[in-house]
Amino acid sequence: MTEYALGIDLGTTNSCVSIVEQGKPIIISNSAGYKTTPSIVAIAESGKRLIGQLAKRQAITNATNTVYSTKRLIGRSINDPEVQSCIATLPYEIVEGPHDDIRVVMRDKQYSLPEISAMILGELRQVAENYLGRPITDAIITVPAYFNDAQRQATIDAGTIAGLNVLRIINEPTAAAIAYGTQTNKRQTIAVFDLGGGTFDISILSIDSGIFNVLSTTGDTFLGGEDFDNRIIEHLVLEFAREYEIDLRDDPMAMQRLKIAAEKCKCELSEMKQSEINLPFICTDASGTPLHINTTISQEQFENLVIDLVKRTLKICQVALMNANVTQNDIDDVVLVGGMTRMPLVQQAVAEFFHKQPAKNINPDEVVAIGAAIQADGLVNQGTNHILLDVTPLDLGIAIHGGKFHVITPKNTTIPCTNSVVFTTSFDNQTSLRIVVLQGEQQQASDNQCLAEFTFSGIRPGPAGAVDIQITFDVDADGIVKVTAKDLETQHEHFVTVSRSSNLTPQEIERMAKDNADYLLSEKMNADLKQAVEYLKLSLKSLRELLANNELPAPIATFTNNLLQRGEDLVKSPDNVENVNHMTADIDNAISLINEGSIA
Ligand SMILES: Nc1ncnc2c1ncn2[C@@H]1O[C@H](COP(=O)(O)OP(=O)(O)OP(=O)(O)O)[C@@H](O)[C@H]1O
Ligand SMILES: [Mg+2]
Repeated sequence: MTEYALGIDLGTTNSCVSIVEQGKPIIISNSAGYKTTPSIVAIAESGKRLIGQLAKRQAITNATNTVYSTKRLIGRSINDPEVQSCIATLPYEIVEGPHDDIRVVMRDKQYSLPEISAMILGELRQVAENYLGRPITDAIITVPAYFNDAQRQATIDAGTIAGLNVLRIINEPTAAAIAYGTQTNKRQTIAVFDLGGGTFDISILSIDSGIFNVLSTTGDTFLGGEDFDNRIIEHLVLEFAREYEIDLRDDPMAMQRLKIAAEKCKCELSEMKQSEINLPFICTDASGTPLHINTTISQEQFENLVIDLVKRTLKICQVALMNANVTQNDIDDVVLVGGMTRMPLVQQAVAEFFHKQPAKNINPDEVVAIGAAIQADGLVNQGTNHILLDVTPLDLGIAIHGGKFHVITPKNTTIPCTNSVVFTTSFDNQTSLRIVVLQGEQQQASDNQCLAEFTFSGIRPGPAGAVDIQITFDVDADGIVKVTAKDLETQHEHFVTVSRSSNLTPQEIERMAKDNADYLLSEKMNADLKQAVEYLKLSLKSLRELLANNELPAPIATFTNNLLQRGEDLVKSPDNVENVNHMTADIDNAISLINEGSIA
């Protein structure tokens, strides 16, 4: 039997799910009919989770309990300067978790970011299960190529909390290349330019006879549509402050309205020369008089506000070409991915930079999920006829003497990979060695991200320089890193899978997965109970009609009236599905006996 596996593009702004059905990848529309689902989660006053369109629709009126753009924060430390700058602009509360990590607060309850992503993943899984009418647990989830180890691990944790079996984590541009490459048999070198809601990625790949070889990948996990929106918001806030001397940034509801208006304006400016922003009653002045925003922004004005952001993407493209050892002229095709590539200025800049028009017929919103689904289908049905050779996005290594960063696995190394270096002890009778695992691109150890620290103890005593210790970095196909230290003579070794130290513990993940499953079960029970009550109501209606139209002998009428009363009481306070179904069956039974005349 065909196994189904999900391809999930877990985006900053929008997420998308795909499966391969009868050999063809398809995007599955959600219950509202859209092919993408907003990556937004809210908790309603009733305590019910709202996900996707439902959450987006109530974002203005429930701003502090509506969480979005968490992909920008996932796997990061709360003290990260980028996180700190982000916190200032978000209407929901962010607090520090127990591992220097980030927790968001909705209705006084703290959630880890993998839990938020798990809710979105769960929603997409439900969309696919509703379509197929059967449960699916296997999935490939995509991440920005430039995600570091902690961000990847946090995404896997999100899958686990959602009850998914995460087959692989693959890079978004690589997934896009798979979707593109399976349509063509030509041998070619392509550039995938992915400018989404929160992140920018560029990958250079060679595709040849089903082998996808990533030559280089780079990007910026803090550059995307949100930044373009923020430029419009800043412009409007500034104009407003100039006119009324009021800072709208202090008002979460006004900021939420500005955010929605800014995004709408940006999208309109991809089609039109100017866009009107009309926000009546945005706030009131000191005397209580309502104030409004009513202004227009031209395409040119918007382009001036964001030109530096577009230029930043091109600089990063230059680095990607250099790292891949190719020039613009070696690129056969450019694949545009991500909603922001609909902006004319972006398309124009990319075409000018690569000296060619980007590929047509590619849906920038769907191509990543489709590539993930193709890869996932290949894994579960053993039918894969393409080979994926992805790379590490950042240098990996350890801190050495003098506070320097010693690279052991350089960026753009094809994964899975194993690299080792041998160090010797630096003083006599040294019995332990502190190993600080780093990821980044800076020479100074402290300027890179610390993935883990551990002490390798039990080193055999000896003179300085006489004991060889081998440090090995293994990076698996998901880009997850394992570091092993080994005394080469005694073979004594110690290893860590590095990111666990800054992320959730296995116990926490287990508890969160259980909380999630319990919530979904209670929701399902509520839905099942509601449906059972509806059936009971129908049966009660029939019984009532039957009683009204038939003269029943007194004892039978008493019995039936009694049954009717009990049924109506149960409708008012249904306890559980079994009891309600039982009552419905008793009533149906009585109806058929009366109809057959057996008890009349
Ligand atoms: N017509 C358009 N013109 C300009 N921008 C657009 C248009 N349509 C969508 N966008 C922008 O694209 C962004 C969303 O793109 P996309 O759905 O590809 O991102 P994502 O996958 O959620 O994010 P990421 O890949 O960074 O995690 C949003 O900022 C959205 O405003
Ligand atoms: Mg995306």
